[in-house]
Amino acid sequence: MSLDPIKMAGKLMKAVQYNAYGGGPDGLQHVEVPVPTPNKDEVLLRVEAASLNPFDWKVQKGMLRPFLPSKFPHIPASDVAGEVIEVGPGVKNFKVGEKIVAMTNPRNGGGLAEFAVTKESLTVARPPGVSAVNVVGLPVAGLTAHQALTQSAGIKLDGSDKKANILITAASGGVGHYAVQLAKLGNAHVTATCGARNIDLVKRLGADEVLDYKTPDGAALKSPSGRKYDAVIHCATGIPWSTFEPNLSPSGKVIDITPAPSSLITFALKKLTFSKKQLVPLILFPKGENLLYLVNLVKEGKLKTVIDSKYPLGKAERAWAKSIDGHATGKVIVEP
Ligand SMILES: NC(=O)c1ccc[n+]([C@@H]2O[C@H](COP(=O)([O-])OP(=O)(O)OC[C@H]3O[C@@H](n4cnc5c(N)ncnc54)[C@H](OP(=O)(O)O)[C@@H]3O)[C@@H](O)[C@H]2O)c1
Repeated sequence: MSLDPIKMAGKLMKAVQYNAYGGGPDGLQHVEVPVPTPNKDEVLLRVEAASLNPFDWKVQKGMLRPFLPSKFPHIPASDVAGEVIEVGPGVKNFKVGEKIVAMTNPRNGGGLAEFAVTKESLTVARPPGVSAVNVVGLPVAGLTAHQALTQSAGIKLDGSDKKANILITAASGGVGHYAVQLAKLGNAHVTATCGARNIDLVKRLGADEVLDYKTPDGAALKSPSGRKYDAVIHCATGIPWSTFEPNLSPSGKVIDITPAPSSLITFALKKLTFSKKQLVPLILFPKGENLLYLVNLVKEGKLKTVIDSKYPLGKAERAWAKSIDGHATGKVIVEP
């Protein structure tokens, strides 16, 4: 049922916010705050589902201070799916009552609430039959996997290229589980790493060979079939260049989605020495057209979201703790 837009002005909504850096799940507070008003080119949605990303708790930890969050108190989470309640001036493509999936401005967050505003440019219609939970993981994790494979690794997802050998680390995580499925659409041979309990799942997602990262061969990232990787979509952390290097093809690239200072030094050194093997740090530049592409893959049954767990907004701190723990299989979801 759609709500009358005029009735939303001045109404209060339930939300979860924090007031300072640090504190983890205990730093989250349940509050009632005014429903936000959509500005120019923004839509207001009733949130049906939000998904958490490590980015959200890294911002709370202060890892991006002083730039993020834009101010305190801060309502975290930028992946949202729901129904349009009101449109701001200039919005052309959405109307009240439409089902959508979107990314909020990461500086402002806003996802852990009953209502949120998103820019029209990062808002995509959700086709009938595609539920909120099945697409709400796409804005950050799906788009990161897409950007890493297409833009950074140069894989064509229509499968028209010759078969590339791709390694995906942390293939059971939010980004990794999408990367495995997208790489298979791109006709790649996929080697993946994950914990022993997720090996079957990652194979079902399409990986050709899967390594338990806690075994010696897994830690060494060695392909069981002896392949050298043309690209590594590196979704885990803490693996040094010296472990990747012997496993790369002559012009193999490591796409590092969590670049540490040591990765940036390796990136610079490889550039300066004209090395063909390269480390490529990735920062997500989200694009609405790519989100639409991913939503359509879900509609066509070609891309699935693995759901680790779902929590009501009233138990958001449990979802937060689950994401911080670093052992989610797929996406952690909060439903207001
Ligand atoms: N650059 C960007 O713009 C960007 C965008 C999105 C994400 N990121 C970053 O990318 C990283 C991954 O994000 P995510 O959402 O995929 O995280 P996530 O969902 O929290 O990842 C959790 C998964 O990683 C697995 N894992 C952890 N260490 C591993 C290892 N050494 N080898 C293999 N698997 C391992 C865990 O398996 P077990 O439970 O079995 O240990 C778990 O299933 C985060 O650091 C995030 O901040 C960056």
